[in-house]
Amino acid sequence: MNHKFKVDYEKCIKCGLCIENCSTRALAYDDYNSPKMDKPKNCMECQHCFAICPVGAISIMGKEAQNSSEIRQINPDDILNLIQSRRSIRKYKQENVSKETIQKLKDMLNYVPTGKNNHRLHFSFIEDIDVMNDFRGKVNTTIVNFFNKKPVKFLSEKFKKLEKMRNAILKGNDVIFRGAPHLVVACAPVNSSCPNQDGIIALSYFELYANSLNLGTCWCGYAYAVLKLFPEFCEYLQIPDGYQPIYVMLFGNKDIEYKRTTQPNPYSFLTIEKQDLNVDIFTKIKRFFLNIAR
Ligand SMILES: Cc1cc2nc3c(=O)[nH]c(=O)nc-3n(C[C@H](O)[C@H](O)[C@H](O)COP(=O)(O)O)c2cc1C
Repeated sequence: MNHKFKVDYEKCIKCGLCIENCSTRALAYDDYNSPKMDKPKNCMECQHCFAICPVGAISIMGKEAQNSSEIRQINPDDILNLIQSRRSIRKYKQENVSKETIQKLKDMLNYVPTGKNNHRLHFSFIEDIDVMNDFRGKVNTTIVNFFNKKPVKFLSEKFKKLEKMRNAILKGNDVIFRGAPHLVVACAPVNSSCPNQDGIIALSYFELYANSLNLGTCWCGYAYAVLKLFPEFCEYLQIPDGYQPIYVMLFGNKDIEYKRTTQPNPYSFLTIEKQDLNVDIFTKIKRFFLNIAR
């Protein structure tokens, strides 16, 4: 396996950027100062060698330079405004988002970073409002039936929040899916190095790009809880074997317009100066357990 690493020697200017930029030292100089795949086992297929080559002389995994997008400078004020104006949308038009727009979202997802460039995420999409309504109905019925069972009823009385959800569903309120016509579930292999981080990063990118396409989105903790609690819905969404659902995002054409950005209270930000490292053992133990909690 050499990851189909190829060099166009006519184009190669022997600058060595590809070799210097390889974070896993998979590449080395050949006898003529051009790059060669030296340690294929190290290669994590990140394509940095391909992306950095000033003359497009490198091909890897069958990728050719002329099929890449050029890199443009983006106005940072526009990005900031996108971040500031993104809202959780809970009012959607009861219509399908166009297939072309959904395809754009899928194409974008191929670019999200994953730990160790694992790049094995899976996304289950509900792209048709009829399917979404079927899914919504089945989830709501399952929840109502679940709460009707005696021991759970007792529990639900203890956990007023859950009981409130059941009552809202019975009144016909779509408390879980917020009337959204679509959803996407990010899923990651159980054995990948950062499944949770990978899935959440993917949906964060999804959220911003969807907003730039004028779609509404909403992170859906309730739907995620449903997938955890009722595994039959993982089957409905055809989550592949060995994969976990990481989180759910609702999306669709929004039926609401916000007029201005919010003004959130600032988080806690701390600028660190140089520190001595004489930390006592009790603080270390406390810190250790705090770090591994959850
Ligand atoms: C991890 C996560 C889970 C969420 N789950 C839900 C949910 O299940 N239902 C919902 O209506 N909103 C959900 N939200 C949206 C938050 O309630 C929302 O971000 C918050 O109210 C602030 O509003 P904004 O997103 O418009 O700034 C969730 C947000 C996050 C980040």
